[in-house]
Amino acid sequence: MVAGRGSVWLLVVVIVGAGCFERCGAQLPIPARTDGFVWGTSPAPAWGGAVVVEAFFDPVCPDSRDAWPPLQKAAQHYGAARVAVVVHLFPLPYHSNAFIACRSIHTVNKINASAVYPLLEKFFKYQEGYYNQPTYTKSRATVVDEITNNLVAPIIGEANLAAYKSGFNDSQSDQATRISFKYGCARGVTGTPYFFVNGMPLGDSGSPVDYNKWISTLDPLVGKM
Ligand SMILES: *[C@@H]1O[C@H](CO)[C@@H](O)[C@H](O)[C@H]1NC(C)=O
Ligand SMILES: *[C@@H]1O[C@H](CO)[C@@H](O)[C@H](O)[C@H]1NC(C)=O
Repeated sequence: MVAGRGSVWLLVVVIVGAGCFERCGAQLPIPARTDGFVWGTSPAPAWGGAVVVEAFFDPVCPDSRDAWPPLQKAAQHYGAARVAVVVHLFPLPYHSNAFIACRSIHTVNKINASAVYPLLEKFFKYQEGYYNQPTYTKSRATVVDEITNNLVAPIIGEANLAAYKSGFNDSQSDQATRISFKYGCARGVTGTPYFFVNGMPLGDSGSPVDYNKWISTLDPLVGKM
C-alpha cells in the first residue's frame, strides 16, 4: 500500500517534471554578439569600469520617446567613461509597427552603425504617424515604404537605399529583431521604457524617468568608483 502510493507519487513527479522540461527546456537562440547599441563614441562599456544603464525602448512607444532626452542628458552630465548607456530594442506586440521599426534599425546598423541613434531619434520624432490608429487601413508594404522613404533615406542617403531594402528583407535582420525581443523577455522586460542599472531592474520602469531621478539614482554609484 505504502509502496503503491510511492509509485503514484513518482509517476506524478515524472509527469510534472517532463512537462516543465518541455516548456522551459528549449534553448533561446544565443546571438553571436550581445544585444544592444552602445550610445556615444566611447568604446563598449567595460563591464565593471563604468555604471551601465540599459534601456529597453520601443521606437513607436511614446513613453520610450519621452524617456530618451532625460537619460541622454544624465549620461552627458557624467560622460561615457563614468556612465555608459546601452539601448536595447523591444518591439511591443500591441504596437502594430514596432517590429518593422526595430527591424529597420537593425538593418541600418549593418550598413552604418553610426546611423542607429539618428534613426532611433527620427522614429521618436515622427512616431505618431506610425501608431496603430493612423496606419490601421494601410498595408504593411505601405508602412515599410513610408519608413524607408521618410525616415531611413534622409539618414543613410539614397546611395545606400538598395542595400537597406534588401537588408530589411533578409532573414538576418528578422533574426536580430527577434533576438532583441527574446533578450528582453529573458530578462523579464514587460513594457517600455524598461531600465536596468548595473544589471538591476529599476523600479520606475514602464514610464519615463526624469533627469533629477537619474541624477539621484546615479550619483551614489558614480561616487563609489
Ligand atoms: C554614417 O552615418 C553617420 C550619421 O548619420 C554619417 O555622419 C556618416 O557620414 C555615415 N557614414 C557613411 C560611410 O555613410
Ligand atoms: C522584399 O520582400 C517583398 C515581399 O516578399 C517583395 O515584394 C520585395 O520585392 C522585396 N524587396 C527587395 C528589395 O528584395
